[in-house]
Amino acid sequence: MRRSCLAVAVAALALLSQVRGLHAQQLPEGPTRDLVTNTCSRCHEFERVLSQHQDKDGWTAVVNKMVSLGLQTSDDDLKKIVDYLATNLPAETIQKLNINKMTAVQFETTLAIPRPLSRAIIEYRDKNGDFKTLDDLKKVPGLDPAKVDAKKDRLTP
Ligand code: HEC
Repeated sequence: MRRSCLAVAVAALALLSQVRGLHAQQLPEGPTRDLVTNTCSRCHEFERVLSQHQDKDGWTAVVNKMVSLGLQTSDDDLKKIVDYLATNLPAETIQKLNINKMTAVQFETTLAIPRPLSRAIIEYRDKNGDFKTLDDLKKVPGLDPAKVDAKKDRLTP
């Protein structure tokens, strides 16, 4: 009886370490990975780190917060950690839509405009050629420029 309990515990532990290992293993190996995984699993699961995607400023802010929570290590190591995280867990970039290739349906859903207006954009583009800037798109008659501004991070000429 005691033996089987032990066996279950051992199996559970093995599984746990496997799950943890798998995640960290998705990062490129090397001394910096060891530094990051060791430093950032002192107070919590390393999964906390893996769940985040940030740019360099974002990771700097996270790491500074950890320092304020009691993380102690050299400035040199902190810099290495931030660089490693920013490279390997980068901010997810939003795929921009090219306004010279977008279809009527894409204009309709992206700008939240009615179908006839999205068709009018296509006709305008066919007639006047490619939009050189987002401001050109705002010149389409009937299109509220605010609708373009609201989505300017998702659109590119
Ligand atoms: C001294 C202990 C300690 C160390 C070492 C540590 N953390 Fe944390 N971390 C915490 C605490 C405490 C929280 C929970 C903070 C909260 O809930 O506000 C946390 C939460 C987080 C979170 C969740 C989001 C957030 O901002 O609360 C992330 C991401 C994180 N840590 C990343 C890291 C990274 C990257 C490292 C290695 C550079 C690291 N941690 C090392 C204590 C630590």
